[in-house]
Amino acid sequence: MAQRRPAGLAEFIAEQERLFIRRQPRSAELAARARAALAGGVTSSWQITRPQPVWLSRGAGSRLWDVDGNEYVDLHGGYGVALAGHAHPAVVDAIRRQIARGTHFAQPTPDALAVAAELARRFGLPLWRFANSGTEATMDAVHLMRSITGRDLIIKVEGCYHGHHDSVQVSVYPEPDEMGPADAPASAPASTGIPRALTDLTLVVGFNDLAAAERALAEHRGRVAGMIIEPIMMNAGIILPEPGYLAALRDLLHAHGALLAFDEVKTGLTAGPAGAAGLTGVTPDIICLAKAIGGGVAVAAIGGTARVMAHVADGGYEMVGTFNGNPLAMAAARAMLCEVATDEAYRAIDALRAQAVGAITRAIAEHGLAAHVVAVGAKGCIVFRREPVRDFRGFLAIDGAWSHAHWLFQHNGGVFLPPWGKAEQWLFSVQHTPADIERFTVNVRSFAASIASMGKVLDSAG
Ligand SMILES: Cc1ncc(COP(=O)(O)O)c(C=O)c1O
Repeated sequence: MAQRRPAGLAEFIAEQERLFIRRQPRSAELAARARAALAGGVTSSWQITRPQPVWLSRGAGSRLWDVDGNEYVDLHGGYGVALAGHAHPAVVDAIRRQIARGTHFAQPTPDALAVAAELARRFGLPLWRFANSGTEATMDAVHLMRSITGRDLIIKVEGCYHGHHDSVQVSVYPEPDEMGPADAPASAPASTGIPRALTDLTLVVGFNDLAAAERALAEHRGRVAGMIIEPIMMNAGIILPEPGYLAALRDLLHAHGALLAFDEVKTGLTAGPAGAAGLTGVTPDIICLAKAIGGGVAVAAIGGTARVMAHVADGGYEMVGTFNGNPLAMAAARAMLCEVATDEAYRAIDALRAQAVGAITRAIAEHGLAAHVVAVGAKGCIVFRREPVRDFRGFLAIDGAWSHAHWLFQHNGGVFLPPWGKAEQWLFSVQHTPADIERFTVNVRSFAASIASMGKVLDSAG
């Protein structure tokens, strides 16, 4: 059952959008000027959000300020990056020290060793390399799986986003008419500019559907290099793996001579100190990290088993990049891993999560919303449907208007959630306080009350 739209929802959204624009005249001015200098007026196409992009001036701790001087509790975290919060003293010190000593040599520096050792300790994979974005990390993972096995096909999950390189730009947010049947999804290009010849090399299966992976491997016996997956789906709200799914997937792939790569770009340090691998106890052949590991600086990491990384070490696959493991990124990542993302910090985040989940669950019950909350580690989201979602098709059945209305309402109420609300999650940082969470959950209660007052709220099939 999804939450049915009451008649008043469209007017509620229109009113919230008017308020949003009234509060941000300087953002509107910059957005208009930017259209003459930046393609589309922004620096990445996903910054084009309704009703207008929000231009920011600064961040400190758990807070952000826009160019109009409005202050927000930041739960956007720059799409899941800001686990350290903003300008964390340990990260600032590390960056300041490194800037004074040079930011780029294209030669290794000792911090890289400390970062690799800490990643190995947390994630249980012995050998690491670095890159600069999640896209690069998953691209290297796909190249590695193909290079090691000498096979061309890969498997990915419908609705998982792994960055914007060709092999994974497949069935990320497919249209209903291109999706194909649920038990054998079609491979649909996720963007223009992706050659069909490449899309055809990526087989698509549903999340939590072991049988579909089994069928794909059997149909293409001896031709599949491996599978890449977000072990907890975090580009479709939050969808958890069913018990045993990931371990069975790994065994199945290995039985077919194929490899398993976890894309932990989002879950990495945010689902817990050792990401989804740590939470589920499943160690894959390759783990991709990015976003939060740099404490706000661009960095990515690729970890592998001894067998996988021997292929890199002996030159079987050349994993390269001018800025890979640059001293600035390594200094920030070392501070993030060794000083910021500590056990104590995770305990504090666990308490904030319990506070948020409790208050939101009560608000949903009090106002009879057809919704539930899903939260893992520092991340969470409200799903505007009663039942848990187990795959991308279930996610599609949720009406995105609710998340947009909630996003606007929070924004106008001083809480900055990530735009594209239905697909995204909140992020609590190590610098958030119970007072920050209180502002967020008070807004949730007011939002729920507003919906309830729109008229009789009914469930509809979905
Ligand atoms: C799961 C996942 N993988 C990969 C990426 C790509 O990372 P980046 O934007 O740093 O290239 C993202 C970005 O949101 C992501 O969510």
